[in-house]
Amino acid sequence: MRLYLSILKSKIFRFFGRSLRVKDSWEGMPSQFHDMASFLNWFDAAKSVDESLRNAEIDWDGRFKQVEQFKFVPKKNALEIGFGGGRLLSQSAKDFGHVYGVDIHHNFEMSKLFLNSQGIKNFTLLHRDQIDSVPDGSIDFVYSFIVFQHFDSMDEVDFYLDQIDRILSTDGVAHIYFGKNQSDGIKVTSEKDFILRDCSLFINPVAMRDRVSTRFNVIAYSDVLPKKLNGDFGESVQAMILFKKQVNH
Ligand SMILES: C[S@@+](CC[C@H](N)C(=O)[O-])C[C@H]1O[C@@H](n2cnc3c(N)ncnc32)[C@H](O)[C@@H]1O
Repeated sequence: MRLYLSILKSKIFRFFGRSLRVKDSWEGMPSQFHDMASFLNWFDAAKSVDESLRNAEIDWDGRFKQVEQFKFVPKKNALEIGFGGGRLLSQSAKDFGHVYGVDIHHNFEMSKLFLNSQGIKNFTLLHRDQIDSVPDGSIDFVYSFIVFQHFDSMDEVDFYLDQIDRILSTDGVAHIYFGKNQSDGIKVTSEKDFILRDCSLFINPVAMRDRVSTRFNVIAYSDVLPKKLNGDFGESVQAMILFKKQVNH
């Protein structure tokens, strides 16, 4: 209920020409939720903790684990960019020795409670500005799902590409989903037009592939993906790219 009121408020704000900063909303909103179902719902629109867990398993298995390359990735450390409530960390933690989650929101306590409630102990949560504490070359798998589409600028994409370049291990792989722009180039939603929780950064998949391939080896990319993996029809607003460090880089 609180979430729908907040979305309505953001639409009213917009109607009266008031702006809402994309980053502020992702940072601040999670602290408004005090029960686990509403907290998780903010990040993945699931109606219950069980639904969030079910969707997490479907997304982890179907979007990340099923990719051929995943089998060959060393399984020591993984890092999720934008872990939200922690639903995907609760999955990746079963496949990797240790998992790191990086995010900008201010309610890591609830994410910790959620992970503890699932019996997950092998995790570390870091604020985006603490990502420097992750040692160079230590991460075998960097992944991100429904996050890059919520950035407020391409600078944030470049920030994470720099970090991925630094932290990825020699045999490591990065698997990143991002919001796609059907037209050429990059589109950023202005503060004036932003509605709470909507996408704000749209990147043409070829432009993203070209940007990534200046410094990484692109293994695969796809610009047509299913919206849901449970049989519902529809195309995802996301595209994905899979890449590794360049040899001798
Ligand atoms: C729609 S939620 C998805 C959460 C999670 N990936 C999942 O699949 O449940 C988007 C997440 O991206 C995070 N986020 C937004 N901007 C970010 C940034 N610049 N760096 C890291 N995380 C960010 C938000 O705080 C939020 O947790």
